[in-house]
Amino acid sequence: MTSYVDSTAPGEGRRAPRADLRTDAPRLSLNGRWRFRLSPTADGADGPFDDWDTIRVPAHWVLEGHGEPWYTNTAYPFPLDPPHVPNDNPTGDYRLRFDLPPHWPDTVTVLRFQGVDSCAKVWLNGTELGHSKGSRLPFEFEVTGLLHPRDNVLAVRVHRWSSGSYLEDQDMWWLPGIFRDVELLARPAGSVDDVFVHAGFADGVGTLRVDADRPGVVEIPSLSLRFDTGTEVSVEGVEPWSAESPTLYRGTLVAGGERVDLAIGFRTVSIVDGRLLVNGRPVLMRGVNRHEHDPHRGRALDLETMRRDVLLMKRHNINAVRTSHYPPHPEFLRLCDEYGLWVVDECDIETHGFAYSGWKGNPPADPAWRDALLDRARRMVERDKNHPSVIIWSLGNESDAGAAFADMEEWIRDRDPSRPIHYERDRSYRHSDFHSVMYPSLDELSAIGQRAEPAPEGVSADDAARSRTLPHLLCEYGHAMGNGPGSLADYQKILEGSDRFCGAFVWEWIDHGLWGTDADGVPYLRHGGDIDVKPNGDRFCLDGLVFADRTPSPGLIEYAKVIEPVLVDVKPSGITLRNRYDVSDLAHLRLLWTVADDGTPVASGELAVPDVPARGSASVAVPEAALAAAPGTGERWLSVRAVLAADTSWAAAGHEVAWGQGMLAVFRPPSRRANGSALSARIDPATGRLLGLGDLAISGPWLDVWRAPIENDHGHGGLNELSRAWRAVGMDRFLHRTDEVRTEDDGTVVVRVHSGPATQTLALTAEYRWAPVDDRSVHLRVRVEPVGIWDGTPIGHHSVTPPRLGLRFGLPAAIGAAEWFGRGPHESYVDSFTAARVGRFRAEVDALQTPYPVPQENGNHVETRWLRLLGAGVPRLRVTGDPHFAFTVRRWTTEDLDRAVHPQDLRPSETVWLNVDHLQQGLGSASCGPALPDRYRIPVKPYEFGVTLSVE
Ligand code: GAL
Repeated sequence: MTSYVDSTAPGEGRRAPRADLRTDAPRLSLNGRWRFRLSPTADGADGPFDDWDTIRVPAHWVLEGHGEPWYTNTAYPFPLDPPHVPNDNPTGDYRLRFDLPPHWPDTVTVLRFQGVDSCAKVWLNGTELGHSKGSRLPFEFEVTGLLHPRDNVLAVRVHRWSSGSYLEDQDMWWLPGIFRDVELLARPAGSVDDVFVHAGFADGVGTLRVDADRPGVVEIPSLSLRFDTGTEVSVEGVEPWSAESPTLYRGTLVAGGERVDLAIGFRTVSIVDGRLLVNGRPVLMRGVNRHEHDPHRGRALDLETMRRDVLLMKRHNINAVRTSHYPPHPEFLRLCDEYGLWVVDECDIETHGFAYSGWKGNPPADPAWRDALLDRARRMVERDKNHPSVIIWSLGNESDAGAAFADMEEWIRDRDPSRPIHYERDRSYRHSDFHSVMYPSLDELSAIGQRAEPAPEGVSADDAARSRTLPHLLCEYGHAMGNGPGSLADYQKILEGSDRFCGAFVWEWIDHGLWGTDADGVPYLRHGGDIDVKPNGDRFCLDGLVFADRTPSPGLIEYAKVIEPVLVDVKPSGITLRNRYDVSDLAHLRLLWTVADDGTPVASGELAVPDVPARGSASVAVPEAALAAAPGTGERWLSVRAVLAADTSWAAAGHEVAWGQGMLAVFRPPSRRANGSALSARIDPATGRLLGLGDLAISGPWLDVWRAPIENDHGHGGLNELSRAWRAVGMDRFLHRTDEVRTEDDGTVVVRVHSGPATQTLALTAEYRWAPVDDRSVHLRVRVEPVGIWDGTPIGHHSVTPPRLGLRFGLPAAIGAAEWFGRGPHESYVDSFTAARVGRFRAEVDALQTPYPVPQENGNHVETRWLRLLGAGVPRLRVTGDPHFAFTVRRWTTEDLDRAVHPQDLRPSETVWLNVDHLQQGLGSASCGPALPDRYRIPVKPYEFGVTLSVE
């Protein structure tokens, strides 16, 4: 039985889609508390009205105490039998009684829904208005003549599943309900319904035409312009709009007594010789994929949350957003216009789950769905066409190929020839102005940069040849799931290295975690696997650069640094500034410098900002005063920070946008030599491990090769499953056997230990040489050698390699803080340390762990020169590198971290665990992406490293 719920029809009774306009005509928000009743099937339930609950609108009912949210990645949560959905189809009946405000005009009135998931049927005062699908797109009904001054009853029946759900298989929570605003709009007689602003910019001149469905007059006071709709005017001396300099000219269109607000940004988007240009200049988008998400409210975002996203992005040097994978709330685009972000506006279409039928029945390829797909394209373009920030239309995500994309393309090109079109998944790229891929390896991306990518399978030679002429838009890379992603700097280098690239978008902006409580009432962020429904996409929704509460993760800090708009290259011979802005010079910045010895500032000052045009560079001399500072101790570093000279709309004066550092000199202290004093280390003659160091109780070291696997260690879809291979060979359970403890004539204690897992021959033998330095210090030199069969258990075609190589020590729980000189303050790894500057840092032990919502390895610090651990009532421990080491300090073991399922499972132990590592494997982004490059793994070979341990 097919009803409107499972017919492919996109809707019925709706008005034609049009622009989202702000006007001075009367408007009544119908947001607020509505009556609500949930029934198990699409038929709803009969019965009295008085037992209905109440619910807030906008919201998702599953986040308001009615049923559960449900997360899947690619799977449809119902049988793949398009366009049908099961009888079990939770259906929410919504009812609102409302009065019209006094003096509501007796004119055309429109009822608008900005977003209802997934299908709504609407009645007003008993009259059925129609229905609509297309969750993240607006729909309107004309209700003229149906309204009363008082006691109107608006009823909306919302179905969780509908034919529309087949087009909405994005990797995200299924969240039903009226989740965007509902409003009533008076349309004064003679007013315009739709407006299309055409504002271009070329050769210093703006052109402007405002089309409307009825005649009206346009006024832009700041440009002294007044002209009729439909007339094109040229405007000399306008500032063009760009993400860097988002100049908006505000004005009005007056028709039928109504004033429509206009926010005009002059800009022209073009593709010339295979490059994307805006206003005639090349642009490199440094972007993110943004889903709408709030950990309490799902996709029902308020304006402040949207603004927070925009501000956070701007403050982290992000200049572009792909609205993955649907048009966002219209206010978000207004914010992008205002604050300046390039936008790839993506249509609400994804049919990924048809992968499970081998793409049989895929809607874009089936004419029965043509109207439904076109309807979505039209509603997006009509709604968003006036935003200068929107520079590219995307036809949707991961929906394979089909004729409907040709229809959508044709319709869009006809309606809005001013913007290029993007679609990634049809490898012929026939309906796309961009070549585009997701998650390439570094090598694959380099080939794309050289327009030398291999022809995709099944694509004609002509299509392949054409696609090589297109600019490349990297729509997803850098999978930010858990700790990571690594290699952002490597990718950026490639992206900056070829003019084919117009932009890249990290996957993704925010973790989609939803607050809930565990059995003990402890609040925590839930992922798909925390809710008892099947199938579910488990933790795959936690892959953002910001945590679900919008706290920046170390990944975001790294990204901000990697894409900083000025490259500040500091060398003793001079400072080079490379301006990476596409439009701006550097006049809005100040350059502040500091010279520090081992992290302690010894001189500082300010550099004059040279005149550097967009994409240009300049050299400046190292300031005299920096060179003149008297010799000190340790490493002398010159740091130069580029900060905002004045307040902007998105950050205050002084906000840092870029920085660079270079080492000027090293002042070596006189070397300390063994003075014949006894070894301060007390070593157990049986195990060869420490019993104490001076008065400090310290245990260890244990040779440590294990890390609590990060999400990227698990790989994806059976590929790159390093963690599985590690466990198979026992990397997580090394056992140790001390073979020898002896003291040499000079007092050096030599310990030989064999460390390896049960069942395997593979092992590491280590020789530890403990040499006295003075009565408070001991030098430890470690030589490690692999023995046994390491090639036996391959991962893919690789042999197993350990995730870590270092020493683990146990310390008293009284240790409360760490101070170090090295990279910080954030955690860093071999493939993610660009944002960690060399300096002197201090942190509480509890702050040295990053609270990833799924516990995993974290808190590493590469290139540490020395570390001091301090606590009340215990001697301080100092670790000095030979020259560098990496450290991790935490109140639980790696094994505890590995076992923990949620953060609340981690409890401080009686020991503070310190890892002094020679190496730790990089992060990569194999949780959805290529294998970790070999250079970030730890080859199985002999190693030698040393540290000095001192008590202070
Ligand atoms: C892509 C997809 C995204 C997301 C991502 C992995 O294939 O477009 O929606 O699923 O992978 O997190």
